[in-house]
Amino acid sequence: MMAPTSAAAVLFLAALMALQLSASASPPAPPIGQPGCNTTCGSVSVPYPFGFGHTHCYWPGLNLTCDTTHGGPPRLLLGDGTIRVTDIWVSGSEPTLRVVREGSLVNSSSTAAGGGGGWSASFGRGFTEHGYLLSFDNELVVFGCNVVATLLADGIGGPNSNNTAGRITGCASQCAKKFNSGGEFFIDTGDVEGVPSGDCSDGSSGCCRYPLTMPAPPTQVQAVQLYSGSDDAVEAAENQLPVNVFVAENGWIGNMSTRADEVGEVPFVLKWSVTRDLPPGPELDDRSRCADHVRRALCKSINSFCWNAIPGPGYTCQCEVGYDGNPYLAGAGGCKDINECDFSSEENGCFGECINTIGSMYCRCPHGTYGNPGVKGGCAKVNPTTGQYIHTRALDDNSCCVGVVISCTFSADDAPLPTVEL
Ligand SMILES: *[C@@H]1O[C@H](CO)[C@@H](O)[C@H](O)[C@H]1NC(C)=O
Ligand SMILES: *[C@@H]1O[C@H](CO)[C@@H](O)[C@H](O)[C@H]1NC(C)=O
Ligand SMILES: *[C@@H]1O[C@H](CO)[C@@H](O)[C@H](O)[C@H]1NC(C)=O
Ligand SMILES: *[C@@H]1O[C@H](CO)[C@@H](O)[C@H](O)[C@H]1NC(C)=O
Ligand SMILES: *[C@@H]1O[C@H](CO)[C@@H](O)[C@H](O)[C@H]1NC(C)=O
Repeated sequence: MMAPTSAAAVLFLAALMALQLSASASPPAPPIGQPGCNTTCGSVSVPYPFGFGHTHCYWPGLNLTCDTTHGGPPRLLLGDGTIRVTDIWVSGSEPTLRVVREGSLVNSSSTAAGGGGGWSASFGRGFTEHGYLLSFDNELVVFGCNVVATLLADGIGGPNSNNTAGRITGCASQCAKKFNSGGEFFIDTGDVEGVPSGDCSDGSSGCCRYPLTMPAPPTQVQAVQLYSGSDDAVEAAENQLPVNVFVAENGWIGNMSTRADEVGEVPFVLKWSVTRDLPPGPELDDRSRCADHVRRALCKSINSFCWNAIPGPGYTCQCEVGYDGNPYLAGAGGCKDINECDFSSEENGCFGECINTIGSMYCRCPHGTYGNPGVKGGCAKVNPTTGQYIHTRALDDNSCCVGVVISCTFSADDAPLPTVEL
């Protein structure tokens, strides 16, 4: 049994820890959505202009569905429910949604090739009809032997415009042929039947990848198996190997730990902008500021900008430099000054005394020292008798010599020892 004194000590310690915990509890986080709206679905934060539930919780057209009917954790779904949203970025210069979709777009294990050895799969319905585009952050990834695949898209303006973009990316995947000991050709089926060994960029070991050439609303993926010129047995073997075509976030295949035909959810990135309930903006434009009445209607935070989306039509908001928050919200949730002094010296580049200012920061050497506060060890004390100040390391500029000081000595071994008369 515990002695009474040690039990008391334990209680005291516990009380102390509880006190420290409550003292270090941070102030309530600023709102990210409209008042009275639920902004969390499972583990995903849902900042305005996105939302679910009551119509005042989202900007028209940017409603999502928080699906709690599946038993597991709630899932944030977009459009027809085939796409799950995992991350929403509303601030910054490239507002995007990170989403996942189950399986491959072309899957030879579930769909037999049509005439001419080809497959065609629609891709995009489910998000393009809600105004989302595939962003530059995606690439086409193809697995198979002697397969060429392309991703087709509508022009900007969507399916109702007559502006057809056509192919926005494509690549060809081959399986290198090898000789066996008997001098016969064979293909290494491990290329497509195992976890990809390389990064698929050379297109010769059972997979290929190619980035998107423009952000666009995709319509379909087409793949065709080419005649390889091999003898019948090899050709037959090649044609039996699985073909899988994906559109995935750049770099996704570097993370792949399963065979291509066993892949589950595949991440990709959508670009969005606000189009509904606002006057139409320019369709194709350089990055330019919105008309004033659009800015007032959409970018409710002071210290925010409004941009015409590229490609248009549509608009996005962004906090001014030095501010962070939700540019679509007025008041506490909106763009607030970033206190740059809260960051580490490495991050904010200030090794002296950091003074936060509205929209920026200021860095100086502490009182009684001189030098360059922008480098580590850059501020040094002045020797009152010699009038010299000694740096612990050499500075790569002479800003140390600003001040009413007679001379300046660098003590770093490999540096010259300049004496500067001011
Ligand atoms: C927000 O919605 C999720 C999913 O519907 C639910 O699990 C959670 O309890 C809700 N939170 C609040 C505060 O209503
Ligand atoms: C928004 O809500 C409407 C009506 O419930 C629905 O048809 C539509 O798919 C939703 N949009 C998105 C992007 O989820
Ligand atoms: C391909 O289809 C098969 C059969 O339906 C399925 O088991 C497999 O998971 C699918 N693979 C991908 C990557 O979609
Ligand atoms: C597309 O073309 C058709 C026929 O030329 C025309 O009637 C229609 O207005 C066009 N649509 C758009 C959005 O330009
Ligand atoms: C790759 O894996 C890392 C670590 O799990 C993750 O942070 C990153 O988002 C993944 N990248 C892609 C493109 O899936």
